[in-house]
Amino acid sequence: MQIVILKDAAEVAHYGAQIFVDQINKKADSVIGLATGSTPVALYQDLIARNAAKEVSFAAVTSFNLDEYLGLTGEHPQSYRYFMNEQLFNHVDIDKSNTHVPPGDAKNPLTACKEYEAKIEAAGGIDVQLLGIGRNGHIGFNEPSSGLTSRTRVKTLTKATIEDNARFFAADEYQPHLSITMGIGTILDSRKVVLLATGANKADAIQAMVEGPLTAACPASALQMHRNAVIVIDDAAASKL
Ligand code: GLP
Repeated sequence: MQIVILKDAAEVAHYGAQIFVDQINKKADSVIGLATGSTPVALYQDLIARNAAKEVSFAAVTSFNLDEYLGLTGEHPQSYRYFMNEQLFNHVDIDKSNTHVPPGDAKNPLTACKEYEAKIEAAGGIDVQLLGIGRNGHIGFNEPSSGLTSRTRVKTLTKATIEDNARFFAADEYQPHLSITMGIGTILDSRKVVLLATGANKADAIQAMVEGPLTAACPASALQMHRNAVIVIDDAAASKL
């Protein structure tokens, strides 16, 4: 793993965005893996600004998101499809038909998971995958105990993750407990992985991922096995290293 420690969240976002800009400018039809959560929002803003400035074009890019809540349609404001449209896709020159998010409203989720894997394979695999990290070390929605070779599948969210993400839902709003997520094996197949983390509340997870043992108890520790993983963190997230 390459560990890049920067001053603050703004620097982390800019550094992460540069990796995607370089990748797309090297290969216009890159296949990129995208993530949700609050951490990548600043990176997406950076990409939007640089797309507007014509420093990068997404016209030939294909994207695959890591995960989606099971039980929400793409029109639901808390769905990850909606989030991606709002935070990135609606503001850049990407062809929406080339953007993929696991279908939270799939009639047969198990078939949908297999189809999602097949689509990634048909696209030639992922060139660069963006990741955040949960406080419990999850990547995508691969919660602790996830198989380190797992593929896209339905996962139950842990109580900790449901509580962490409750801030996005209104008090009386239905919050899904299930998700469809790329597996750890799917993520490890990406040719490059870029994980961003900022803030002191991620310091324990970062320490476990970087310095702890390779273990399903910390799904992100699987990145220790990836030959091209870049971990971009701020001083606060790095404070326990
Ligand atoms: C969710 C997503 C993850 C993300 C995590 C951390 O659980 N499924 O992909 O990394 O949240 O989110 P945040 O960046 O808001 O801390």
